[in-house]
Amino acid sequence: MTKQQDGVTVVDHPLVQHKLTLMRQKDRSTKSFRQLLNEIGMLLCYEVTRDLPVEMVDIETPLQTSRQPVISGKKMVFAPILRAGVGFLDGMLELVPAARVAHIGLYRDPDTLQAVEYYFKAPSDIADRMIVVMDPMLATANSAVAAIDRLKERGAKDLRFVCLLAAPEGIERLRGAHPEVRIWTAAIDEKLNDHGYIVPGLGDAGDRMFGTR
Ligand code: PRP
Ligand code: URA
Repeated sequence: MTKQQDGVTVVDHPLVQHKLTLMRQKDRSTKSFRQLLNEIGMLLCYEVTRDLPVEMVDIETPLQTSRQPVISGKKMVFAPILRAGVGFLDGMLELVPAARVAHIGLYRDPDTLQAVEYYFKAPSDIADRMIVVMDPMLATANSAVAAIDRLKERGAKDLRFVCLLAAPEGIERLRGAHPEVRIWTAAIDEKLNDHGYIVPGLGDAGDRMFGTR
């Protein structure tokens, strides 16, 4: 189940919504938070890959030859934004085990809310591949915009962005900066607070996932 508007798809499947509600609860354990993020990653992966191109190939079943569909083109790239984006990665790789992985290390300066890069490693041929950038939180979108800028500098052309929670401000900024990059999210929350946190939100996704509060 999905709702689509202006390049944004809200994945309002009951399983996703139920798991997201559990993740929002402040007393949820690190273990449970991490597992839920992984499970939602898998469900979002199903949606973000829904329109992948397929081609027909000849195969042999035990009974006869048959022409059947397989995904065509080069293997896609999953690009988690560190740290919290890693929480989606295993779930996505469960569904697409041959995907390549690009790591983008960014943190948000707590005062300026600007993204600061500390690591970047991507396959050399990202220009020829579809790239799914992933981060649970789209708040100001400074991190998402910086990650996509960086991937484009390296030649990326076919990009999608997946998150768990988005603020309306973040969607507007990402759509403005990279209008061709479609967004998938499990929910669009009310707003950002004065510290750039999504409300009602779920708090700091990286800290909750790694138990670093
Ligand atoms: C969080 C989150 C996003 C970013 C979102 O990361 O995982 O990357 O903030 O905020 P933005 O849309 O305003 O840029 P954080 O900077 O806390 O780093 P961490 O994942 O290493 O904890
Ligand atoms: N990053 C987070 O982890 N949570 C927010 O609410 C905003 C940015």
